[in-house]
Amino acid sequence: MSKRNLLVTSALPYANGPIHLGHLVEYIQTDIWVRFQRLRGNSCLYICADDAHGTPIMLRAKQEGITPETLIQRVWDDHKADFDGFHVSFDNYYTTHSDENRELASLIYSRLKEAGHIIRRTISQAYDPEAEMFLPDRFIKGSCPNCGAEDQYGDSCEVCGATYAPTDLVKPVSVISGAQPVEKDSEHYFFKLGDFQDFLKQWTREDGHVQTEIASKLKEWFESGLQDWDISRDAPYWGFEIPDAPGKYFYVWLDAPIGYMASFQNYCDREGVDFQAYWGKESQAELYHFIGKDIAYFHTLFWPAMLEGAGYRTPTAVYCHGFLTVNGKKMSKSRGTFIKASSYLNHLNPEYLRYYFAVKLGSGIDDIDLNLEDFAQRVNSDLVGKVVNIASRCAGFIKKKFNGRLSSSLPDSGMYDDFVRSGEEIARLYEAREFGHAMREIMALADVANQYIDAAKPWVLIKDEASAQEVQDICTQGLNLFRIIMTYLKPVLPVTTAGAEAFLNAGELNWDTRHLPLLDHAIEPFKPLLTRIERETIENMLEESKEHLKETANETPRPDSPLAKDPISNEISFDDFAKLDLRIARIVEAKQVEGADKLLQLTLDLDGETRNVFAGIKSAYDPESLKGRLTVMVANLAPRKMRFGLSEGMVLAAGPGGKDLFILNPDEGAQPGMRVK
Ligand code: 2FM
Ligand code: ZN
Repeated sequence: MSKRNLLVTSALPYANGPIHLGHLVEYIQTDIWVRFQRLRGNSCLYICADDAHGTPIMLRAKQEGITPETLIQRVWDDHKADFDGFHVSFDNYYTTHSDENRELASLIYSRLKEAGHIIRRTISQAYDPEAEMFLPDRFIKGSCPNCGAEDQYGDSCEVCGATYAPTDLVKPVSVISGAQPVEKDSEHYFFKLGDFQDFLKQWTREDGHVQTEIASKLKEWFESGLQDWDISRDAPYWGFEIPDAPGKYFYVWLDAPIGYMASFQNYCDREGVDFQAYWGKESQAELYHFIGKDIAYFHTLFWPAMLEGAGYRTPTAVYCHGFLTVNGKKMSKSRGTFIKASSYLNHLNPEYLRYYFAVKLGSGIDDIDLNLEDFAQRVNSDLVGKVVNIASRCAGFIKKKFNGRLSSSLPDSGMYDDFVRSGEEIARLYEAREFGHAMREIMALADVANQYIDAAKPWVLIKDEASAQEVQDICTQGLNLFRIIMTYLKPVLPVTTAGAEAFLNAGELNWDTRHLPLLDHAIEPFKPLLTRIERETIENMLEESKEHLKETANETPRPDSPLAKDPISNEISFDDFAKLDLRIARIVEAKQVEGADKLLQLTLDLDGETRNVFAGIKSAYDPESLKGRLTVMVANLAPRKMRFGLSEGMVLAAGPGGKDLFILNPDEGAQPGMRVK
């Protein structure tokens, strides 16, 4: 196949926070694919930038008492260091706050306008009269109109999951000033997405442009109708002013994807590459965007429509991925599983994570889980125990007994050829982003190589001088198999592969020349390429992630506070909470339990229905003092057989134990049997 020209992007991270492991799923996925393309001899340019505009960045800079320019430069430096640390091989890492982006955004906007795709309309929006600015939904809080939960954002309730307009909030306040927002009219600029309905339907249907899961999402979006898209924001706003509209700025999402082009323009100017050959209507190059599934709407509707409307080529494909969970749960600051890229790098080799993500990734949009136990086990058993082991088992004999020289022929060239042939399927899997499957194929080869060495037993043969040639041949075979395996792993493990290249002493590992074994060739001394992950290292990383939280949180809990000793558990959904049936109960009887150190036996009345409950509160309460009191119980807990009888529910109490136990008291007016919710 002839050499392909590819231009690949990952989503532009916002310039107002650190890169964390959740972000890295995408950059690692893209980087593996990009490195694979390059290894196959294609030209593959990988372009990215910081997404440097928008209200949150403006407000954050203000809060820190610095200019937005200073903030985005500092964050850019941090992001760049994190990406370098994980060996993400961008050809250009730029910023959307650039001259190139200002020019391209203006150009695209004016072309869309000339073609009649921009309209103006006056809309009414929430306005903060004290801060004198319009408020994005996220900057308004109030009580949920559905469930009454306080302190909810203007677009959705985190307690009951309801979505609504900020105007529906009960007692709304501006997060910025605390003032009550007012409604205010303003003229906005809209991009008429509906003009592109036929084009988009066609584009999204055409083979390979989007994944099947996204295609069905698109079908829903088409069915619910394509709305005009509000692309302007009023001053004060941190972004580019719209050329013919003083006081109006491009919404951050307008210039963000154009940032892909602008970063590429910056690259072209530096490297003397033809921009139009990639973005022009007639471009023969392939263009791929890797993104999270949450921003599919922007990339599969707005973006192709904008490109089409402004006379550019459209993407070859948009590839979405899922989100990251850690140990099966959403990343959590209190558990230390909200791990920043830099915290990870303080403790662990980035290639471990690259490999683990590769193992977990497929071409779909399912979420992937970083199970830390499984992570250590996988890396230790696959990379250290299988792959590196092949080299370390063979290298010593070659170095010590044969002066570092490999034999002049392979004892099992059929096996070698099989390894070469496997490369075709592995390449197909890489190309299709089926990295997990590719890793399994590669590890199956590592198993074959290890079994070969196990059966040949060079460590036994070496004792007999007459078998010397055989030992040299076996180790030559082993090292050549290792060389092919490392070639296949090169997109995932660039640094370990560089170590293997130095050891094998024959230049860069290359997909197309893998069929030529290294024979009659001198290798270098073997140095361990990767070491095992120790459980303690992971613990330390989690500890640092928790530590960091304490440093940054304003409300640092005291070391002896209840929250410090017993951090808040992982978030649950409203549905999880709704499963609990909590009821007001009257304690009609309370007595000691013979032979029990901690328990009292309570008879609870729920409006006529009585329950027998054993409660571990003996150390804190005299049974007499409890009689007649109201409290709260879990009424739908499965009955539990105890040594002293059946316990049919549970009363709720707070405190560490001993004398410090406090059962709950409802406020006056509560009646037995009432539900607590
Ligand atoms: O969702 C985000 O994090 C955005 N900053 C992604 C922008 S991608 C592209 F369109 F610029
Ligand atoms: Zn609610």
